[in-house]
Amino acid sequence: MRRWLAAVSITMVSVLGLAACGGGGGSTAPAGQSPAASGGKQQVEVFSWWTGPGEADGLQAMRKIFEEKNPNYTFFDAAVAGGSGDKAKALLQSKLQASTPPDTFQGHAGAELQGYIKAGNLEDLTSLYDELKLKDAFPAQLVEQISVEGKIYSVPVNIHRSNVLWFNPAVLKDAGVAAAPKTIEEFIAALEKVKAKGKVPLSIGSEWTVTHLMESVLLGSLGTDAYNALFKPGADWNSPEVTKALESFAKILSYAGDPQDDWQPAAKQVADGDAAFNIMGDWAYGYFHNPPEGGLGKTSKTDFDWAPAPGTEGTYLWLSDSFTLPKGAKNREGALAWLKVAASKEGQDAFNPKKGSIPARKDADQALYTDYLGDALKDWSSNKLAGSIQHGVAVNQPWLAAINEAVGLFIASKDAKALQQGLADAATANAQ
Ligand code: GAL
Repeated sequence: MRRWLAAVSITMVSVLGLAACGGGGGSTAPAGQSPAASGGKQQVEVFSWWTGPGEADGLQAMRKIFEEKNPNYTFFDAAVAGGSGDKAKALLQSKLQASTPPDTFQGHAGAELQGYIKAGNLEDLTSLYDELKLKDAFPAQLVEQISVEGKIYSVPVNIHRSNVLWFNPAVLKDAGVAAAPKTIEEFIAALEKVKAKGKVPLSIGSEWTVTHLMESVLLGSLGTDAYNALFKPGADWNSPEVTKALESFAKILSYAGDPQDDWQPAAKQVADGDAAFNIMGDWAYGYFHNPPEGGLGKTSKTDFDWAPAPGTEGTYLWLSDSFTLPKGAKNREGALAWLKVAASKEGQDAFNPKKGSIPARKDADQALYTDYLGDALKDWSSNKLAGSIQHGVAVNQPWLAAINEAVGLFIASKDAKALQQGLADAATANAQ
């Protein structure tokens, strides 16, 4: 059975504006200035948005291996702060359009990457795949998401899950919620019980986290097949089923606490016992679990627990981070050295346990993936698949920008009908 979504094509992404926030803890150059050589060593500019607590740990683990294996190169951390890359991706666009790309950048497998490929931004990596026998290392269906006309354009480092309900067991117990809610209706009932106890029922971060919440509610309300059908040509975003899903979404969002600056402070409210629930990708696991230098050092099952987002059990709402070789990279050889580490079993097994993701490689050391990550590996091998909206699988970047705009208006208006119209218009304008 074909378990993966067909890749969605994309048109050229428009420049959204500059929003650089500076590099994450590493070798950095002044804003806007390209790194060149330092101390006789050539720098490799690695562009991502992994600067914050939790996610930066994974990058640093892979960086360490890169530096050990490549004493002739310096790792230049060009990460731009902001969860989900909303700021990073805008800056990246302007760099690509100005033909001053980083040496390698993070992009999501699926529609987002297809956009970079079709815009002619990326070099074909098929010869690297042949050299390292990578076609056998990654699931064939994942390779399909990063390919066009038989050529392969990036190196996937992980698989993340978007539809995770994180919760604080003590807060639930105190509110008389016996177990993690399994349906949207149970979820709303649980939120109401927590509200009555005076805690934040649902924590929320910056605007993109609301779209992130919406994709889980759409999946949980519509079911997997109807959710996946939304991204096929001619999909009906005006259906009564979508109306019902968005009404539930509006109801759920009415239980949200004050919006936090990004996903980390929202997730922290759950781990600290100030909020009951947060729907966030499994990068939150790295943040909860990693030791205090990078994470919160919290105890799993006591300080935080997890379940599939309500109504989504049996489906992996997936996404995958991958690294690329942009055309015109200043340090092409250095970028290839980075891609080799990113592709390796050693690199992926260092990165993923810290990042809160499971490896893209099929031959990773399973013993390293325990606790939440053990559950993730098991579910990944048995669940149905659905592609994330917010994280680049199901929709291309112009379509996502239109969805985010509709969600942004909804946050202010709370008008579910207008949201549905906005989503329908976004699909009409962008689906191919
Ligand atoms: C996603 C990305 C993850 C994680 C998350 C929060 O888009 O794929 O790796 O970084 O954003 O920033």
